[in-house]
Amino acid sequence: MLALQPVRQPVVAPAQRPNISSARYAKAVEVSKRVRWDIDRDVIRGRRFDFTKRFLPNALSKVDQLEFLGPDDRRLLSQIQGRTYANIFGLVERFIAAKVLEVSREHWLGDQSALEALVRFGDEEIKHQELFRRIERMCAEGMPEGYTFVPEPNAVATAVLSKSTWAVLALTCHIEIFVLDHYHQSIGTQTDVSELWKDVFLYHAREESQHAIIDELEWVRENAKITPEARDAAVDDLIALVGAVDGILQAQAAADTLYFVEVCSRPLTPKELDAVKTTVLAAYRWQYIVSGVQGKRFRDVLGSMITPQQGERIGAALVPIAG
Ligand SMILES: [Fe+2]
Ligand SMILES: [Fe+2]
Repeated sequence: MLALQPVRQPVVAPAQRPNISSARYAKAVEVSKRVRWDIDRDVIRGRRFDFTKRFLPNALSKVDQLEFLGPDDRRLLSQIQGRTYANIFGLVERFIAAKVLEVSREHWLGDQSALEALVRFGDEEIKHQELFRRIERMCAEGMPEGYTFVPEPNAVATAVLSKSTWAVLALTCHIEIFVLDHYHQSIGTQTDVSELWKDVFLYHAREESQHAIIDELEWVRENAKITPEARDAAVDDLIALVGAVDGILQAQAAADTLYFVEVCSRPLTPKELDAVKTTVLAAYRWQYIVSGVQGKRFRDVLGSMITPQQGERIGAALVPIAG
């Protein structure tokens, strides 16, 4: 199901590419200026989270699969997952901002629209990290003590940035496309979630739309520069990065399950505890890995760059994660 097949891309004459790309960077700059928002003035607006409502919708949190939990405990588990969801974006945006500023170097004396698009992209990710730090503090105010966010942003960023640019751009493109899918398919359409939590991801998605376009442009540009051997090694890097993401998800799912068990309304039986643990890990793998690799937009870009054998290698690495 997860095998990634190459797709045939329309042939574009090399001479046309710079103009097409330049127009897309310029469009991203134009939209970025139009949708730009401020954390307090536009997103938070003096509000607090409504803890009587869910945060992460069931399509992502899978809490309704835990039928033995009452409505209050399901809501609590969706709030814990929603808190982690914000923290995970704050985490990945540390390496994304650094990578974007690094690749901007290649446009310093070139296409100035591309340079502006990347500088704005980096600036927006720095702002998003500040937003997610605010969200964490606001979650802490309204939830019982004991929550832990396990991974450390700079340690993760250092490990990710040690991999090839092709692989880091692939992971980034994957993340920024699934952010949009999650908002448009689940979060934005949900009526029974906290309005502020929903708005955080509405405003986030508005700026991420441009990021996903720029990721794709930069990844395709990087792909055209490297040799088949370097690309083959980069596929291994991408597989290693997905494995590292899965390691983070396993640790955070365990921490969030432990926290939930301590603060939920009643003691859980060993069988119930096991079901919570399994469901939270499956939900995190769905949120941060599987939903993204199943998305057509990401698959089309990746498929246009790799061989069938490389697609099979990636697909095989995803089998234990997809379950
Ligand atoms: Fe972001
Ligand atoms: Fe982004």
